[in-house]
Amino acid sequence: MATARRPTPAIFVLYGATGDLARRMVLPAFYTLAEQGLLPEDWRLIGSGRGDVAHEDFVGHVHRSLEQFGPKPDNRTWGQFRKKLRFAGGDFANDDGGPLIEAVRQARQDLGEDAQLIHYLAVPPQAFIDLTDSIGKHGLAENARVVYEKPFGTSRKSFRQLDRAVHQVLDESQVYRIDHFLGKEATQDLHVLRFANRVFEGMWNRDHVRAVQIDCPETLDVADRTDFYDHTGAVLDMLVTHLFQVAAEVAMEPPASLEPADLQAARESIIAKFRPLDPDEVVLGQFAGYRDLDGIARGSKTDTYVAARLWVNTPRWRGVPFLLRTGKRLAETRQTVSLILRDPVGPFGDLPPDGNVLRFALDGSGEIDLRMVAKAPGVGLKLGVASARVPISEVAAEEPLPPYVRLIHDVLTGDRSLVTRPDGLAHVWKAADPLLSTRPRLKTYQPGSWGPAAAKKLAAPDGWLLGQ
Ligand code: BG6
Repeated sequence: MATARRPTPAIFVLYGATGDLARRMVLPAFYTLAEQGLLPEDWRLIGSGRGDVAHEDFVGHVHRSLEQFGPKPDNRTWGQFRKKLRFAGGDFANDDGGPLIEAVRQARQDLGEDAQLIHYLAVPPQAFIDLTDSIGKHGLAENARVVYEKPFGTSRKSFRQLDRAVHQVLDESQVYRIDHFLGKEATQDLHVLRFANRVFEGMWNRDHVRAVQIDCPETLDVADRTDFYDHTGAVLDMLVTHLFQVAAEVAMEPPASLEPADLQAARESIIAKFRPLDPDEVVLGQFAGYRDLDGIARGSKTDTYVAARLWVNTPRWRGVPFLLRTGKRLAETRQTVSLILRDPVGPFGDLPPDGNVLRFALDGSGEIDLRMVAKAPGVGLKLGVASARVPISEVAAEEPLPPYVRLIHDVLTGDRSLVTRPDGLAHVWKAADPLLSTRPRLKTYQPGSWGPAAAKKLAAPDGWLLGQ
């Protein structure tokens, strides 16, 4: 069981409570927090969403979400947990705010006026502005924290509009823009391993690193979320959100300290140094059959795959390509960050290409893997590649926390180290702008493959480490 200070009583309003994200991620994370004793002594979760859902139906919905996406509800925790659930659907945008206003009032009466109020917007980005306005209009913004999912904006222009609208209602200290890739245990090891170990700290630069690959292929389909996906695509869903934030974690300069504000500053400020993407260094793809899915427009030009070469304009990284790749219906599901090290100067000629790689697996509980060139046993001098693998679950007795569990706990305790910042996001959209305005021609790829062949050239001379 994790040990941490218990947060003060909280009222948690979950918008989009019957939607896909809440079902898969937010509700299971909330239940895990309850199981691990990481929620406040007392709390309420008020689900909000379109239409009216009877209280018992909502409780049933939460139970089914846990059955399907875990952790399985046991009698003891569930018995307590279900008592804290409420549903207050519909009409929040109306002048009187609908049933949610009364539900919050009631929860305040139960928990005390000092209870913190947390709004969690598990809704598509198009709904962010209206919901934020309503939160302000109904007097629910004061001292509240508001959680926004990614993508925060869909272009430079829409980001500015959203940012303005949010700051009309909220102070920056109340805003929690989350990106769950930052909440992954192994992502945080990118800075812990680096700054806590001389050997890695010393090699974290262009003198030692030849290329960085952030590679997140997925076998996953999009059939159960076609509406969201067809309006989003791989560039917005993954590239300029998750993969950019992970790239920032790799590329950042040392923070002034490991305090949350300094960590956040180090990560977010490096994004200003991302060179705007050159559309000639980006490959976009769409898997064959995508347009035949129910809910996808026949002539859809949505990208389900993207591979990009990103450059980080700092003395530390000048000339080192950051290769980013992700896509749906690919051959494997993996989430890896690899630092490919330069060959040492010395007596050896050609070394095996996949030796000398420090790899972080972000998926599952996370793993660190150092690949080294070593002598193959036997007579003579043949080289082989050995690997030292550290599953993060073996680092200590604690269980690795799923990313949403960590992030929601951060919101409850006010830890902002993994929250994205508006200056960083402004630079994200600046770097994405050339690609969004001049999109490369979409290439079709076969489901189960590694995507369009054109992406191979981007990764030359090493090639993509996965799927070779
Ligand atoms: C989500 C994307 O944010 O991250 C999905 O919308 C993607 O398209 C998912 O599949 C991948 O993350 P994870 O950690 O759930 O595998």
